[in-house]
Amino acid sequence: MPLIREIVEMPELSKLATEVPRLTVEGACKRFPGGLSAVYEDIGFAVEPGSFVSLIGPSGCGKSTLLKSVAGLLKPDQGEICWEHAASRECIRPEIGYIFQDATLLPWFSVRKNVEVPLRLRGMVPSLRDPVCREMLKKVWLEGFEDYYPKELSGGMKMRVSLARALTLNPQVMLLDEPFGALDAITRNEMNRLLIDLWFRQRWTALFVTHSVNEAVMLSDRVLVMSARPGRIVDDVAIDLPHPRNESMVSDPRYLNHVSHIRSLILASSGEALRPSQLGK
Ligand SMILES: Nc1ncnc2c1ncn2[C@@H]1O[C@H](COP(=O)(O)OP(=O)(O)O)[C@@H](O)[C@H]1O
Ligand SMILES: [Mg+2]
Repeated sequence: MPLIREIVEMPELSKLATEVPRLTVEGACKRFPGGLSAVYEDIGFAVEPGSFVSLIGPSGCGKSTLLKSVAGLLKPDQGEICWEHAASRECIRPEIGYIFQDATLLPWFSVRKNVEVPLRLRGMVPSLRDPVCREMLKKVWLEGFEDYYPKELSGGMKMRVSLARALTLNPQVMLLDEPFGALDAITRNEMNRLLIDLWFRQRWTALFVTHSVNEAVMLSDRVLVMSARPGRIVDDVAIDLPHPRNESMVSDPRYLNHVSHIRSLILASSGEALRPSQLGK
């Protein structure tokens, strides 16, 4: 198991493992008022601290709803979702960074001010905000763009500002809802490289929703495959590729096997809901 080996080898990760809670989801079910069927049902899985888990499944199967439930923004009707503190075993509220498909930047704020929003909301004074903001922009390759406005940025740059903003509060958990779905293939690959690099160095727990099988396999320790609505987890696929990952892995037979296995699972469980062409992105 690469994750366990890395935890042993990297001292900061063993510290992180004691601080980041473990996610447990048991028998979770969600139905919206007036909805004919549940959005997701009988969902159960656990996510170990510092691991990277992707959720994949056809459109409308409840991925975003499940992610919001995991963030505590929606309550499941049945079942339990708990971020379990490593020592006390109590359910706690971890520091969560949430990234949406749209970068959701404030157009009247510069890049610097957008990144600083969470720090301002916490009442941090400018002299403390400045160095944090500079460091975050460096992490996402945006040094020198502090005074630009969102309308002057490409889609990939906007998404990097959104990432920098989420990182300012030093999250223990990152929830990402199809963050790169609107980007072109080259930018998307770049963003995957950036994300994997940030995660590898910082090791927040990542829960990543995507439509792309390739992206899920490239980034994740595990891929949870969901069926069409009502979304259920039809498989929990461990991705046994070493870290750090890069694009040379796309020809690795293990990578290709995982991609083909997950594609066939989605097709089998979604019927007409997803065409094969939608799975290749
Ligand atoms: N607030 C809501 N009220 C009623 N129905 C909703 C609400 N949010 C989502 N849904 C419905 O739940 C289903 C699953 O949505 P969603 O979780 O966004 O799916 P996915 O992210 O997998 O595409 C959809 O049919 C959607 O219309
Ligand atoms: Mg969604």
